[in-house]
Amino acid sequence: MFFGRKRKADELAQIKGGSMPVHIGIIMDGNGRWAQRQGLPRMAGHRAGMDAINRCLEGLKNLDVKYLTLFAFSTENWRRPKAEVDYLMNLPGQFVARELDNLMANNIRLRILGDVRGLPAHTQEAVAEGIKATAGNSGLTLTFAINYGAREEIIRAARQVGLECKRGLLDPGDIDGTSFESYLYTRGMPDPDLIIRTSGELRISNFLLWQIAYSELCFLDILWPDFSELDLYRAIADFQHRQRRYGGI
Ligand code: IPE
Ligand code: IPE
Ligand code: MG
Repeated sequence: MFFGRKRKADELAQIKGGSMPVHIGIIMDGNGRWAQRQGLPRMAGHRAGMDAINRCLEGLKNLDVKYLTLFAFSTENWRRPKAEVDYLMNLPGQFVARELDNLMANNIRLRILGDVRGLPAHTQEAVAEGIKATAGNSGLTLTFAINYGAREEIIRAARQVGLECKRGLLDPGDIDGTSFESYLYTRGMPDPDLIIRTSGELRISNFLLWQIAYSELCFLDILWPDFSELDLYRAIADFQHRQRRYGGI
């Protein structure tokens, strides 16, 4: 325990001296496998995954990261058994009920990415409550991607752009990267500097495809419920060793 704490403090001191990612995105994967390995139902993994979110927030308290975006439910996750989907749709409500005081105390602003109207009414209400209550906070922006799919996001943006062109509000020749981005769910947010995926899978699974064009990718061989502050610090340390070139030299 002592050594664990010391390692964490050392790692923290190390990364504090380097450049900090402004925006970290996390594909929180591996809850089901974590549960299976312990002979528990998958839901137990999702519940344990909530604690990992808190550890992550705890770890960020000491750092100057402005945005944390967590992939919580993809547009493809509706393919799962209804009981699991129902369970997952209760988690935003649980999170807001349990963590609102903590979010307020730490000046954290809640935001959401995705097709909110496709969520059950109770989930929409819980999320709306959390967003409204934290709207005035100016510290970390904590964003949950729920019912989010990057392809759906891009198609939705293209449709809106098309509509504005049709109405004569927009000239197709004026559409560029900057104006197009204002139609994405992430409007106003900087692109992620660092994307972390847990569970050992080496894929993006339809997360932020437009926005990760130049993100640094970090794939971890641990399951999300096991994710610790030390893992977060190590991922940031790894990020700090990368050389970002954006196509230059
Ligand atoms: C991530 O864990 C949580 C969601 C996708 C909602 P999984 O539930 O995908 O866990 P594995 O990948 O089956 O282990
Ligand atoms: C990605 O995980 C989505 C979330 C973490 C919410 P999945 O478990 O759905 O991804 P695949 O199916 O393994 O690609
Ligand atoms: Mg998975």
